[in-house]
Amino acid sequence: MQKNQGQGAIGDGTRAEGVQSFFLKKGTLRPPCIWRAEGIYMWDHLGNKYIDASSGPVAVNIGHGNKNVIKAMNEQAEKVSFAFPLLFESEANITFSEQLTKLTGPEYNRAMIMSSGSEVIETCMKFARIHAIRSGESDRHIFISRNPSFHGCTLGAQSLIGDVFMRDPYAPIMMSYPQISTPMMYRVPDNMTAEQHSDNCAQELEDEIIKQGPEKVLAFFMEPICGLSGGAAYAPDSYYKKIRQICTKYGILLVCDEVLTGSGRTGKYLASQHWPELNPDIIALSKGLGSGYFPISAMLTSQDMAEVVADTGGFPHAQTFTGSPLACATGNAVIREIIDNDLVGNSDRMGVILRKELRKLQETCPIIGDVRGKGLLIGLEIVADQSTKKMLPNEINSPTAVAEIGIKHGLMLYPRRTGGGKYGEWLIIAPPLIITEEEVMDLVDKIAVTLKEFTTGLIEQNII
Ligand SMILES: Cc1ncc(COP(=O)(O)O)c(C=O)c1O
Repeated sequence: MQKNQGQGAIGDGTRAEGVQSFFLKKGTLRPPCIWRAEGIYMWDHLGNKYIDASSGPVAVNIGHGNKNVIKAMNEQAEKVSFAFPLLFESEANITFSEQLTKLTGPEYNRAMIMSSGSEVIETCMKFARIHAIRSGESDRHIFISRNPSFHGCTLGAQSLIGDVFMRDPYAPIMMSYPQISTPMMYRVPDNMTAEQHSDNCAQELEDEIIKQGPEKVLAFFMEPICGLSGGAAYAPDSYYKKIRQICTKYGILLVCDEVLTGSGRTGKYLASQHWPELNPDIIALSKGLGSGYFPISAMLTSQDMAEVVADTGGFPHAQTFTGSPLACATGNAVIREIIDNDLVGNSDRMGVILRKELRKLQETCPIIGDVRGKGLLIGLEIVADQSTKKMLPNEINSPTAVAEIGIKHGLMLYPRRTGGGKYGEWLIIAPPLIITEEEVMDLVDKIAVTLKEFTTGLIEQNII
């Protein structure tokens, strides 16, 4: 880390400070200053090379420095970079919606384009509400979501998240909605099968609907496979079937937050496609949609649902960048890369290899508790003891400690402990979907040396 602090420490008084100054204590060394990025690699201003093992915050699905996307963005910017959709139609916007349908299926042929993941979650909340009003069900206004979960940082989206650490400070200034347990399958309660545990979690949804009053509940929000907050955890098939049945039984909209899991990340274009019976009513996409080249997000729904709203006064909801031609042209170019290079298939194939190699590593590395996920969304859970699943002492903050060691070994890792570690501690391993088998091996080698150094330190300090 020392080597990368070329611009000094935060708050040394020598200059104005940017984003880092809101996150890091005064005097903390800065993270590497990134100068260039290409494919799965990034270089800092001193020439050190890193593997981007998490695609940033699981966003850069097609990898860095893609020339086709940059060219398409330039061409669009020269033609028309801005046209407001309430006043003008834009070709990029129409093409984007058509392209997206090729991957999501015709049942999601209406796309509302926004900029960020948080904004699109807010859009889903508001669309669900306006749809209920226009369908004659204006009593419906309660959202139910899961814990742990993450849905964004704006106040509406934040009111859905299951993470006390991120949510509690803002609780007095936002709405409070009920939550049910996310099935975290690494820690199934004793004397229960995986199916029984996840069935109980799904049953919590029905119980909560009855408690709130079925006529008042509007929508259920879930990440089909957990993202950062649940470390790529997912449930047995029966869970998804039961969730759909409960939503249908009570006329509640099922919203899948695929901001992180969409765009090919899990080996299908949508993670919900792993469970066709889930059949969400509304889907939120972002991150990989623009792959970090430009902010873009999309709320997808059916023609029927969109028409209910459009034909009864329209959707009173838009922002300056809604349907931005530049965002849509970027999204179009990203989708072309995904289709032309079969990145969804590559995510599936490389994910299988990467999980197999990490599980091999688990046999010799005592602190790898679990390796889970689908496609190239992998959670690597860190524990003090594989057999008891006991966590390392809280004050070590092990995911962050491992990530700091990773930097020395040319590895950018994303550390996470939701709710201050209440559900476990993990690293998100989610490299760009363009990764090759050779690069997978390079990634595994770097993870191995990083974990070895961390484990050796724990042994030397008699912690494990
Ligand atoms: C599942 C999920 N939903 C929503 C969001 C919010 O997206 P954004 O950071 O673009 O606002 C995130 C961000 O990490 C996410 O992981």
